[in-house]
Amino acid sequence: MRTALSSQLNRPLTIGNQTIDKRLSLSPMATLGHVAFRELVSEFGGYGLLFTEMCRANTIPNENRHTSAYFKWRDEELNQLVCQIFGNDPEIMAAAARRIEDEGFFGVDINFGCSTGLICRQDCGAALLKTPDRAVRIVDRIRGAISIPLFVKFRTGWKDDPHGAVDLARRLEAAGADALTFHPRVAPDRRARPPKWEYIGQVKAAVTIPVFGNGNVFSHEDCRRMLERTGCDGVAIGRMAVANPWIFASLSEGLIPGPDIHFDSAIAMAKLLAKHFDPRRALGRFKKFALYFSANFRYGHTFYTNIRNAKEMAEVENILCKFFETPPELGTTPNMNFFV
Ligand SMILES: Cc1cc2nc3c(=O)[nH]c(=O)nc-3n(C[C@H](O)[C@H](O)[C@H](O)COP(=O)(O)O)c2cc1C
Repeated sequence: MRTALSSQLNRPLTIGNQTIDKRLSLSPMATLGHVAFRELVSEFGGYGLLFTEMCRANTIPNENRHTSAYFKWRDEELNQLVCQIFGNDPEIMAAAARRIEDEGFFGVDINFGCSTGLICRQDCGAALLKTPDRAVRIVDRIRGAISIPLFVKFRTGWKDDPHGAVDLARRLEAAGADALTFHPRVAPDRRARPPKWEYIGQVKAAVTIPVFGNGNVFSHEDCRRMLERTGCDGVAIGRMAVANPWIFASLSEGLIPGPDIHFDSAIAMAKLLAKHFDPRRALGRFKKFALYFSANFRYGHTFYTNIRNAKEMAEVENILCKFFETPPELGTTPNMNFFV
């Protein structure tokens, strides 16, 4: 069913030398945006691009795609798949970007947004927002190394003032970035306070390349308001896509989920994880998925606790069958206790 929102999301968007046909992307998420989850999302469709979880740049040139947990993909998804890298050495990051281009990915995305201690202590991710000259040098060097679309994902910075981000956006464009994903939160603020969408509008107004707005889009109404209020060109969705892997199809194609969508998706996720990963990693990844998926249910803590206690994948299927025996009560908005 076509709505005003779906018509807006189905307009083509040119990014560098490529065009996508839907203005929604899966935001990169470590331990959640792996090959199995992306396969589940692809079964519903409705997005323009999928982003991998962040990959450490210095491992990429020699990484084995068949044994890697994160630098792993299905050939069928490559034409809509952007690989995100993090690092801080322009040469090493350029070498990683070259391999990504050679493998046939749609694009490369640079992570200047991750604010976890582990990443920032290595002067990567959002730490680079403290040294914008270095961030710009990285973009410039990678631009010189590849011809596929180059994305940058970044956030407000280390203080709650949009000017630094606006200035950086201009410099990233001048250095050759083809598109930006902007998450308007300050770096120490993981996801506790609401993002300041008005900053997205300011970044968008400062550049001519496409800008994807990101942060707290949980519903059709949120998506519509973000586009309207900020003028952004597209919307990147993270956590809500884990809770509702069909969200892209719902927003851009009017998919109306049937009553079994939660059960079917959870079972499909378990099977896909077992297909792509060894049993130990499959179980670990299912538990990460289950945390965000629990946000759907009024009694999500019961769901999550049962899954968290599972010792092996075989148990997971039984837990799912039992939990869904009686249709669970759904919340009208995601339960934020699970959206860490
Ligand atoms: C578990 C988790 C892992 C994340 N990993 C990454 C990452 O690898 N790279 C990145 O740029 N952002 C990462 N993010 C941030 C998301 O891409 C996104 O910016 C954030 O969740 C806000 O969007 P949302 O409100 O739609 O979830 C992560 C977020 C979560 C919850």
